[in-house]
Amino acid sequence: MKPFRDMRLAEAFRIQLAAPDDFEDWRNAARRMIRADVPPDRITWESPADQSADLFAHGDRRLPPPPADAPQPRASRDFLQLAQSVILHSDSKRFSLLYRVLWRLQSCPRLMEDKADPDVRSMEDLARQVRRDIHKMRAFVRFRLVESVNSEQVEHYVAWFEPEHHILRANAGFFVRRFTTMRWSILTPRGCLHWDGETLQEGPPATRADAPSGDPVEALWRGYYASIFNPARLKIGAMLKEMPRKYWKNMPEAALIPELIAGAQAREARMVKAGEQDFGERPQSLDAIGDAILACRRCEIGCNGTRAVMGEGASTATLMIVGEQPGDTEEEQSRPFVGPAGRLLRTHLEEAGIPDRRTYVTNAVKHFKFLPRGKRRLHQNPTAKEIDVCRWWLDGERALVKPRLVLALGASAARSLLGKTVSVQKVRGEPHMLDDGSELWITTHPSYLLRLQDHGRAEEEIKFANDLRKVAARLSELFERGSPQD
Ligand code: URA
Repeated sequence: MKPFRDMRLAEAFRIQLAAPDDFEDWRNAARRMIRADVPPDRITWESPADQSADLFAHGDRRLPPPPADAPQPRASRDFLQLAQSVILHSDSKRFSLLYRVLWRLQSCPRLMEDKADPDVRSMEDLARQVRRDIHKMRAFVRFRLVESVNSEQVEHYVAWFEPEHHILRANAGFFVRRFTTMRWSILTPRGCLHWDGETLQEGPPATRADAPSGDPVEALWRGYYASIFNPARLKIGAMLKEMPRKYWKNMPEAALIPELIAGAQAREARMVKAGEQDFGERPQSLDAIGDAILACRRCEIGCNGTRAVMGEGASTATLMIVGEQPGDTEEEQSRPFVGPAGRLLRTHLEEAGIPDRRTYVTNAVKHFKFLPRGKRRLHQNPTAKEIDVCRWWLDGERALVKPRLVLALGASAARSLLGKTVSVQKVRGEPHMLDDGSELWITTHPSYLLRLQDHGRAEEEIKFANDLRKVAARLSELFERGSPQD
């Protein structure tokens, strides 16, 4: 009798999935095909209406029975996570891409770690586009009030949105949580969602003509948008990228954009003159800063899903030590300088005679910026812009702790405190005056020392120790003069 594998090779299969966004359905079919040893090029995957037809239609299919003793397919967690986003893409080739990668994973279980692999890169590209579409829908859906049609005269809000991908179901939970007490419908060409305050229902695709345009609530939206518009943060290119014109027609506030842009330069000039960064009112305690940074999403690092790490130490410390950003261990433990760089720093502080009780330790950037490498998270330097945006929090800590001395570890911390990039080697070991009259000392970052080898390291550690001794001497001087409280 012919071996099973050869028979399968000759056959081709057409798999009709029940819905374009149903990961479990694809996964069940794919697992069965892998167990039946059907290679990727023998399968044609289809879902109803990949090109914007009915999201909720169903189809038939015939799948080959896998042999009883066929092993269970293996798939890494990275793959499964990414695949759940990829499946929502509107590219009809996504199913075969996923199956090809799953097939390859059986003989190459670490395939997902190879970021240069064309299939892995395609998956990441598609997932990125889906995430972007999800984000756009959350940001740009605008509800309009329609006449109440039910007997209880409950207000009903309707929004029209045109997603690029099959993200409607994936986004439903967000809108239910955000607008729980409202009665609303979101109409799209890929299907509709209806929420009545208790249950969510799905409906067939709609057209733009089904959605209302204009209502009295729009004036509120416009007023709100005009009040939160920050001219200092206006970047027209980036704004068009983030808020492409195609969404404008559904957004009442978009009518204001040309006018606000025109007035932006004048407003920005006024703000710069007034020295504002216009992030609103500063938190009034270290605890409040600690809470607020957890929710900070002002830069990309803040949006990377890590937990922000607050400074810690004496709340009236004479010396504030500023690092760059929390590392892997710091993010895990939610405490600054508790990893290898922190241990080296503490050894040197002790040797220099700088007591813990007089220091407050924090970072220029509050979230951990990293590049995923398999299970590891590789540190990445923050950009100048990210440092500048995060300075708002460091300034808040300085305003509350009021240290007489500030020690910047490395170039990022120095930039945050000076507002410009400097060469650490040129400015280290001598005092600089900060805007509030406190004294800034700059030295290298302990992580830099950890990366050096042999002689280089020994030499740099001596310089580092010398810098800390100078800071310790200044600290003692301040105490001998009796100004700070011990
Ligand atoms: N490096 C830093 O700059 N800060 C930390 O908290 C840890 C390592």
